Amino acid sequence: MKRFVPIGEVLEGKHTDKDIRIRGWIYRARSSGKIVFDLIRDRSGIIQVVASKEKVPKKDFGDAKRASVESSVEIRGVIKQDPRAPGGYELKSKEFRVVHFSEPFPITKDKSIDFLLEQRHLWVRSRELAAIMSMKAKLLRIFREWFDSNDFLEVTPPIITTSTAEGGATAFGLDYFGQKAYLSQTAQMYLEALIFSSERVWTITPSFRAEKSRTRKHLIEYMHLEVEMAWVDHDENMRIQEELVAYAANQIASRCEREFAELGVDPSNLKKISTPFKRIEYTDAIEIIRSNGVNTRWGEDFGAPHEKVLLDKFNEPIFVMNFPKECKAFYMKENPKDPRTYLCDDLLVPNGGEIIGASERETDVNKLIERLKVLGIKDPESPESGYKWYLDLRRYGSVPHSGFGLGVERFLLWVTEQEHIRDMQPFPRTPSRAYP
Ligand code: 4AD
Ligand code: MG
Repeated sequence: MKRFVPIGEVLEGKHTDKDIRIRGWIYRARSSGKIVFDLIRDRSGIIQVVASKEKVPKKDFGDAKRASVESSVEIRGVIKQDPRAPGGYELKSKEFRVVHFSEPFPITKDKSIDFLLEQRHLWVRSRELAAIMSMKAKLLRIFREWFDSNDFLEVTPPIITTSTAEGGATAFGLDYFGQKAYLSQTAQMYLEALIFSSERVWTITPSFRAEKSRTRKHLIEYMHLEVEMAWVDHDENMRIQEELVAYAANQIASRCEREFAELGVDPSNLKKISTPFKRIEYTDAIEIIRSNGVNTRWGEDFGAPHEKVLLDKFNEPIFVMNFPKECKAFYMKENPKDPRTYLCDDLLVPNGGEIIGASERETDVNKLIERLKVLGIKDPESPESGYKWYLDLRRYGSVPHSGFGLGVERFLLWVTEQEHIRDMQPFPRTPSRAYP
């Protein structure tokens, strides 16, 4: 069987002066008379290839001249060091086989964002998107490593649910054989049920938010990393969040050199991230935000302008704690020091904004019933309400517990310093688009 060498190995100097084969796609095509100069890419890198009329079979030369960008190719030849070539190496070909002649590729320079989104199935071949996908895969591996070495159990909650934890207004409804159901906004309630046997659980699942807000930080479908822990209070919850986030930031910085270079991003700030993170009370944060000219009041949840003031000021990961009840979800534990607020935190990071939403959980069943009633659920204790099972968790050996949810794409937006969260998903779902 023919052996093909990854281009990345060539660029590391492992095949210099050797006769080898590569395969991939034409990234740039250029030819003049008796010579073809192409750039060929595979998943590991890009290399310059020359095919000259005298050195390759006649048919190969004709095919090489004809093959346009994105044609797939297999090429044999000798690797030479060449400081003028991008990456410092050139392949002088002896055989040039075109596997498939591409039709004229629709994506050329200076296309509009809309056009590129319409062609997303082709645009995912771009160097930037490929680099981001590679970082995402490594990030998921890094998270998994951290949970494995910190004694957490990975669990698989359902995506189809019959109750909403983050508010009915942003839930996608669906018809479940005649019954009303929803796409999951969060796995939290299921994770809470699982701590009574497994104590420390985590999961990564798609979460869905039917939010028409078109900001650079919102997706309709995103990857949600969630954690739930028995016997853990608000303070310890924050310590676990910062350990996980600092580890992941440090590791991604040191394991993604090639990807950062591809994006033109310097990861040295990420290498320096360390714990503990700065902590600030919501009430103090609101004062800072107001004094910086944002028109807001105590009780309002944060939006982009609020986050911007704090991140411009601190420019590092920062916990905002103890939000007013009116801006957070019903399941959070009341703050005994100020019952107008919850024992909760959001973690904000530069460029990503809020990457984590977290809290200690309310264990008082009556408080939960009252809050659900306020949300318009008439009889929370009936099975039809969808919440009876959740209330049961406070009836049979309830324990103090806490957890959090981290948006994987928001985390990536932070570390990649890119403009828009949609590029953190290969096929982003946005309010105006579910194609391709
Ligand atoms: O703050 P959220 O809504 O919290 C929850 O869903 C909790 N039930 C999580 C838990 O405690 N288990 O969402 C958590 C995180 C946010 O901080 C944000 O990073 C991300 O999910 N997120 C989104 N990411 C992209 N697009 C959206 N529309 C997002 N909505 C939330
Ligand atoms: Mg939130």
